[in-house]
Amino acid sequence: MYLHGTSRVNEKGNLEIGGCDVTQLAATYGTPLYVYDEALIRSKCRAYIDAFRQSGFAFQVAYASKAFCTMAMCKLVEEEGMSLDVVSGGELYTALQAGFPAERIHFHGNNKSIEEIHMALDAKIGCFVVDNFYELVTLDEIAQEREEKVAVLLRVTPGVEAHTHEYISTGQVDSKFGFDVQNGQALEAIKYAHESKQLHLLGVHSHIGSQIFEAEGFIVAIKRLIELLEEARDQHGFISEVLNVGGGFGIRYVESDTPLSAETYIKAITDTVREEMAQRQLPLPELWIEPGRSIVGDAGTTLYRIGSHKHIPNVRKYVAVDGGMTDNLRPALYQAVYEAAIANKMNAPATEQVSIAGKCCESGDMLIWDVMLPEADAGDILAVTSTGAYGYSMSNNYNRIARPAVVFVKEGEAELVVKRETYQDVVSHDLLPKRAQLQR
Ligand SMILES: Cc1ncc(COP(=O)(O)O)c(C=O)c1O
Repeated sequence: MYLHGTSRVNEKGNLEIGGCDVTQLAATYGTPLYVYDEALIRSKCRAYIDAFRQSGFAFQVAYASKAFCTMAMCKLVEEEGMSLDVVSGGELYTALQAGFPAERIHFHGNNKSIEEIHMALDAKIGCFVVDNFYELVTLDEIAQEREEKVAVLLRVTPGVEAHTHEYISTGQVDSKFGFDVQNGQALEAIKYAHESKQLHLLGVHSHIGSQIFEAEGFIVAIKRLIELLEEARDQHGFISEVLNVGGGFGIRYVESDTPLSAETYIKAITDTVREEMAQRQLPLPELWIEPGRSIVGDAGTTLYRIGSHKHIPNVRKYVAVDGGMTDNLRPALYQAVYEAAIANKMNAPATEQVSIAGKCCESGDMLIWDVMLPEADAGDILAVTSTGAYGYSMSNNYNRIARPAVVFVKEGEAELVVKRETYQDVVSHDLLPKRAQLQR
């Protein structure tokens, strides 16, 4: 198993993160438990910021809070001087409760409700990333009613889709997000927003995919965005102040994953923007990015307690843990792969190939298919690495399983940042129908 950040094996042969023995963390806070290496999160934030500083561009690094949104995380991001991308009233509320400066919040989403729009305007957020014509017109009307000028970016789909080592350049984009560049909708939206008295069009945004290991997809997308900006200048006199190229920077989940460094992605992006803008005699915009997974992914480890097992001779050995698709939906949702180790047997040889099953009543509730581990006993602590992104944020109460706690660890200290849910929490929104009460 790859040891990220401050993770190491201590003298007891146990896994340690942030100077904390994880078997102690499991004993103190219970399992499943999400453990975040705070120093590693901060170093990821700083890598993007430093790379931009080197480039000479004006910039914003907006953490995509969907990857892991809690008040503690919003606070950390604020301390690191970053901006924040939210996609719902709930994420916005979390950020505001954490005291995140509203002017550094960008509001995404393909179906923002009227209530969410008012909530964001009341909070005076930095900008809306407008996704479609319905939202564009609605926001324009609401801004008019409120007699406010609203800053917007337009999310466009440049016809590039990138994942891991591949990018596909598609002529026609079939996506629920954004204004299509190819069919002219993006230019039409720019015209509308630029001419609106209520909207201040800052520029355009695109997000081309996730877990991207090559810069090529970003380069092709940026070229298309800048061609669009040239047309927008020539046809409508619009000059973009901001170019936002989204997130999607890859991380290492398993040995075979080979992400690029933040510096490499940012250099490719800034070099391309500089060159393409110069060629078209367009002024350099402020550059924004929205990393989510690459800020928190590697920094999160989930601890589970091993319970039952089922051995089917010549077929497979299932080892079950006390969590599963309720705390990590990614394997069930899109066959995501992870590495694991037995945290209290880090020096023991990995002699057995097993599959890690969750405890939910669902055959698809498997966390890892085929992983080599030392012989597992009930009571051992299983550590699954790189679970920091889209784990806690996609957690759920299937089978009425209570959500785990979250701790941040740093320099030998652990701090509880999300309390473990109780069964009382799980039923706290349930109401018994009145007629049931009458019949009792
Ligand atoms: C618009 C937008 N920005 C940023 C992100 C963050 O992506 P990642 O976590 O892969 O960096 C996403 C993820 O879906 C997104 O949709």
